[in-house]
Amino acid sequence: MRAAAARPSYRAPAVQAPVCGRDSQLADLQTLAAGRDDGLVVVCGTGGLGKTTLAAQAARQAETQGRAVFWVRWQDDAARLAHDLTRIAQELGLPETRLHDAQNGRARSGRRGVGATGLSAGVGDRDRQRRHPRNLGPGSEPVGSYRGWVRPDGAGLLLVTTRDTAPTTWGPRAHLVPLEPLAADPSGAVLRDAAPAAGTTEEAAALGERLGGLPLALETAGR
Ligand SMILES: Nc1ncnc2c1ncn2[C@@H]1O[C@H](COP(=O)(O)OP(=O)(O)OP(=O)(O)O)[C@@H](O)[C@H]1O
Ligand SMILES: [Mg+2]
Repeated sequence: MRAAAARPSYRAPAVQAPVCGRDSQLADLQTLAAGRDDGLVVVCGTGGLGKTTLAAQAARQAETQGRAVFWVRWQDDAARLAHDLTRIAQELGLPETRLHDAQNGRARSGRRGVGATGLSAGVGDRDRQRRHPRNLGPGSEPVGSYRGWVRPDGAGLLLVTTRDTAPTTWGPRAHLVPLEPLAADPSGAVLRDAAPAAGTTEEAAALGERLGGLPLALETAGR
């Protein structure tokens, strides 16, 4: 959707270092974001695999394509999420009546949630203790029932990052993008980006492989 740029508080975080080894996922996300179809994409995997980084890079790509991107950080606070999504819906010009429906949400609002507004957003699950999303609201229905804020309907793409990889959590219409550790060459590239003079490309790839290809570990080791 073309619309005014998001307020600073809803901008995607800047990607600090080059994103290595995620070209195919980025291409898929670019295709999904460029399409006219609605949808729900769930980038998932354990901590430090690079979910937020991938989503931030995808957000930047989508903005380059002229899409409006809104980034929401969610930390187990349903009221805060409702506040953020309401503001975004207002910025996107959702009529008051539909906003009211969405806020009072649940079953009867059917397809009329904020997810149906043509919203391209990242909802980042930054909860480090619990694995399963809850308090996503409105109401207490499971996320996968699509009666709350997270819905696959609408003119925009909703992208969620989460450690919860269970398809049942996200429901039948979610397009899951499970992240794996990086392969040896991109692992080496992460190390060399952080420490360019520390060794050869081959040595970096070998060390990257030994470190298990986890971007967080690679970056830390590189530093
Ligand atoms: N593909 C990548 N190339 C280079 N660096 C990366 C890549 N992916 C992630 N990183 C780096 O690894 C670190 C962890 O990445 P990120 O925060 O995206 O992980 P996450 O999966 O979102 O973790 P969490 O589950 O804790 O939210 C970041 O500092 C990031 O810069
Ligand atoms: Mg993250």
